[in-house]
Amino acid sequence: MTGLLGKVALVSGAGRGQGRSHALRLAQEGADVILIDICADISTIGYPMATEDELRETARMVRRLDRRAVIGVADVRKPEEVAAAVDRGLAELGHVDIVVANAGVLSYGFAWELSEQAWDDTVNTNLKGVWSLAKAAIPAMIERGAGGSIVITSSSAGLRGAPLMAHYVAAKHGLVGLARALAIELGEHGIRVNTVHPMGVDSSMSRDPQVAELFAKYPQLFGPLGESLLPKQGSLQPEEVSEIVAFLASDAARNVTGIQFPVDRGQTART
Ligand SMILES: NC(=O)c1ccc[n+]([C@@H]2O[C@H](COP(=O)([O-])OP(=O)(O)OC[C@H]3O[C@@H](n4cnc5c(N)ncnc54)[C@H](O)[C@@H]3O)[C@@H](O)[C@H]2O)c1
Repeated sequence: MTGLLGKVALVSGAGRGQGRSHALRLAQEGADVILIDICADISTIGYPMATEDELRETARMVRRLDRRAVIGVADVRKPEEVAAAVDRGLAELGHVDIVVANAGVLSYGFAWELSEQAWDDTVNTNLKGVWSLAKAAIPAMIERGAGGSIVITSSSAGLRGAPLMAHYVAAKHGLVGLARALAIELGEHGIRVNTVHPMGVDSSMSRDPQVAELFAKYPQLFGPLGESLLPKQGSLQPEEVSEIVAFLASDAARNVTGIQFPVDRGQTART
């Protein structure tokens, strides 16, 4: 697979999970990568974030594929940290063609019981953080004049409601608006912008023990959410989302911009 040979991909949340999988998939297709992760915990999030060792391991895995990797420890809530990390990546790898805005967090609670800090941590990571990554990369992409692809990780919770995560649902819906606006603004530059909307994916986020507890405690709230229209049940593997990310990043999707791409076995088809 050499469709992305000569391209550079910028991936946030690349220390593990879907971000690592996306980075490896894009590297398999030939891209060099700039890998960003916070590598520090967030107090309102009930599971740990990736570590710097994990981020370095993603880079080692990319290099084993004979691709170049630059790592940047940056909190996507902080545009100045993101800009510094992207600038370091640009200095080493020369340009950015693909942006995969994947970093995200999730905490739980009824909307009216969320603390302001919990609201801010989730919305600022999941929505502002995507803007800050795009903001850091877009000027260099426009200046180079070679087009590009921005793939934003939303969620099935960006297409329909979900209980006990109003901040997450609001941010993930917000990404649809951000992507649509960016698609209009960047179309003339040949830069495409699309969102992917995965159902539950096997990762540290979905393995948070609180998930099982809440499903057991509020079956009436969660019950109808999980219906696959296909025979296959259970969570997606990160690699299954990476296939769609790689497609949207590739020239095969050259006529695709401003869309919402569900990866959910049809779960949101009835919404
Ligand atoms: N796991 C699921 O069920 C699921 C379903 C749909 C969508 N998503 C979305 O997929 C994306 C990837 O999540 P995942 O499932 O791989 O979970 P994950 O927790 O394994 O990975 C998230 C990564 O983002 C990093 N990160 C978190 N906050 C950050 C910040 N402020 N700045 C920089 N990096 C930060 C973490 O350190 C971690 O490496 C997220 O946007 C998530 O909302 C997940």
